[in-house]
Amino acid sequence: MNKIGVLGTGTMGAGIVQLAASTGYRVTACDANVESLEKAQVYVREGLARLTQKGALSEDEANVSYDRVSWTTNVDDFHDVEAVIEAIVEKVEPKKKAFAALDALLPPEALILTNTSSISITDLASVTSRPDKVCGTHFFTPPPVREAVEIPRGLHTSDDTVEKAKALIESFGKLPVVIQKDVPGFVANRFLIPMILEACKLLEEGVASKEDIDLLVKKGLGFPIGPFELGDFVGLDVALDVNTYIHDELADPYYNPPRILKEMVRAGRLGHKTGEGFYKY
Ligand SMILES: NC(=O)c1ccc[n+]([C@@H]2O[C@H](COP(=O)([O-])OP(=O)(O)OC[C@H]3O[C@@H](n4cnc5c(N)ncnc54)[C@H](O)[C@@H]3O)[C@@H](O)[C@H]2O)c1
Repeated sequence: MNKIGVLGTGTMGAGIVQLAASTGYRVTACDANVESLEKAQVYVREGLARLTQKGALSEDEANVSYDRVSWTTNVDDFHDVEAVIEAIVEKVEPKKKAFAALDALLPPEALILTNTSSISITDLASVTSRPDKVCGTHFFTPPPVREAVEIPRGLHTSDDTVEKAKALIESFGKLPVVIQKDVPGFVANRFLIPMILEACKLLEEGVASKEDIDLLVKKGLGFPIGPFELGDFVGLDVALDVNTYIHDELADPYYNPPRILKEMVRAGRLGHKTGEGFYKY
């Protein structure tokens, strides 16, 4: 592949754009929101500058990488890409709408890949005429840094598509891990969401402060980051959407979204991206 598209340039899309551009791909980066595109441009510029400071890229390579990206609010600009990685909001209906639109405009051989954290690949593929060419590529945050990428396959995803998705991820310098069954939350979020859930329950029950919970998880269990810090980093709206989807799909009351998480999202306290979540930034 030479040219890929990224749909949605928020927390994850911006990182994926940087990764693709710095590994030699021409990238069409599309977001419905101009402000998100502008923020992503700054993110990619700064990310490439950090790579230059670390000696991973020369200044020329960073400039060339940045110039490989074309920024747009018009999805029609994906007409000549070989794959699109979708990274829009974690809700079924907007994703299905986007998938149907992509299916109508992409070249017939192009892959539709999704960064969904939890949603059924089979369900998203059902609105396209190419379910064999639909596959998950679930990056972790921040995409330029985290090493592994989940590759959840849908019921109709072909082996050829899985191989192409793996090769793409490897060409980004990442480790692809194929998830054989299309289950809600795949593997990673079946660990992350219960961790955030338990942390919220303990906080709601007054068992410990958020600072102490984070401290114990880091300094006791040896995790690099505490559950509240991680929730803020991921985005509490995204965490709640993933939690809600897993809850609804599994019909398991254990996953009932905690009130405190709902309240934070209703109050617009989404974490790093809004300057305040469980903590202030
Ligand atoms: N945040 C994380 O840590 C994380 C980690 C792994 C996977 N994900 C997944 O990645 C996806 C994106 O998450 P995020 O955290 O980047 O969200 P985000 O809210 O930061 O960004 C989403 C972007 O999509 C844009 N958008 C929404 N609908 C659109 C549409 N129809 N067309 C074009 N652009 C549209 C928004 O303007 C926004 O810029 C979700 O599926 C999420 O579950 C997130």
